[in-house]
Amino acid sequence: MKGIFPINKFRDLRTPFYYYDTKVLRDTLACIHEEVAKYGNYAVHYAVKANANPKVLAIIRENGLGADCVSGGEIHAAIKAGFPADKIVFAGVGKADWEINLGLDHDIFCFNVESVPELEIINELAGAKGKMANVAFRINPNVGAHTHANITTGLAENKFGISMQDIDHVIDVAQGMKNVCFIGLHFHIGSQILDMGDFVALCNRVNELQDKLEARRIRINHINVGGGLGIDYGHPNRQPVPDFQSYFELYDNHLNLRPHQTLHFELGRSVVGQCGSLISRVLYVKQGTNKQFAILDAGMTDLIRPALYQAYHKIENITSDDQMQTYDVVGPICESSDVFGKAVDLNGVRRGDFIALRSAGAYGEIMASGYNCRELPKGYTSDELV
Ligand code: LLP
Repeated sequence: MKGIFPINKFRDLRTPFYYYDTKVLRDTLACIHEEVAKYGNYAVHYAVKANANPKVLAIIRENGLGADCVSGGEIHAAIKAGFPADKIVFAGVGKADWEINLGLDHDIFCFNVESVPELEIINELAGAKGKMANVAFRINPNVGAHTHANITTGLAENKFGISMQDIDHVIDVAQGMKNVCFIGLHFHIGSQILDMGDFVALCNRVNELQDKLEARRIRINHINVGGGLGIDYGHPNRQPVPDFQSYFELYDNHLNLRPHQTLHFELGRSVVGQCGSLISRVLYVKQGTNKQFAILDAGMTDLIRPALYQAYHKIENITSDDQMQTYDVVGPICESSDVFGKAVDLNGVRRGDFIALRSAGAYGEIMASGYNCRELPKGYTSDELV
């Protein structure tokens, strides 16, 4: 065992695979539980999109979180993992009829609605079943988050949500409908947010809107502020559990929640990011013209974040203690963007060494693809490998 990895248990496994350290996951969930308990009216939903591995979902469900789903497939996964339907919220800019029907059949807690045409279809489908659907409107608060452009969602130019100006009209439309019940407002400004000022800006927008709607005597029972809390990719061991204390405290300090309201969160990355690593073996060490390559059996099909977002994942040689050398760490896929890191310092690499790509629990396994007819990576928990 080097560091936190049970390498002896890895030897019999086919690489690449995801390894989930359940202690880190459970510590993270315990911290969320403890912090949320300080406020009587906070509810946390796990954003299933970050990782839907059944073993990971089961642990999250055991710890009492609800589920934030963005597709019928995610609703199936959440139900299968035992999440109670009345703790499931369903978001997404393009919900298909069968997905809406699935939500209605399970009597999920709420649909986060992103447009009037969608609202009309939910009303119609709920009517056909003789049901009432709870709806919250996703508002585009036009707040820019200081994160990668591909994962900013709260700007006017993004496809998400309803603009602040249109919301009065949309609420009026909903209130005139027979089979939807307007219960709340939903926001989400982006992901991997480390500048807490972005969340303060969101709180200010929510406060503005609440005051405006209150003046019209519109009652709102639920405010959902989405997710977005970032993790420390540079130092996965330094603070594996994100600073939930400051995060929830920020909302307590800045969001003017009314006594009858519940504040909902949809956290993904901050729940599962640090518990997962992608484990691969070195296939070859290749001498290039003026650099050397460590060629792994894992590629962008297993972890696409570096190729797609130029994301940084800490890379470690967990087999060797040899002197540090510098490598470009690459995968086997036929794409030049199949690079995990350039000029990475690693303990001297040999064929067969295990390489860990850290902080890969969120948007790792779930975003894997079968490009090049590759098999999808499996996921193992530390509980299974004792
Ligand atoms: N709620 C909504 C409406 C969302 O769109 C998202 C993420 C979340 C909650 C959860 O956000 P989190 O707490 O995980 O930041 N694949 C990208 C991230 C995409 C995030 C999409 N939405 C990545 O690998 O960085």
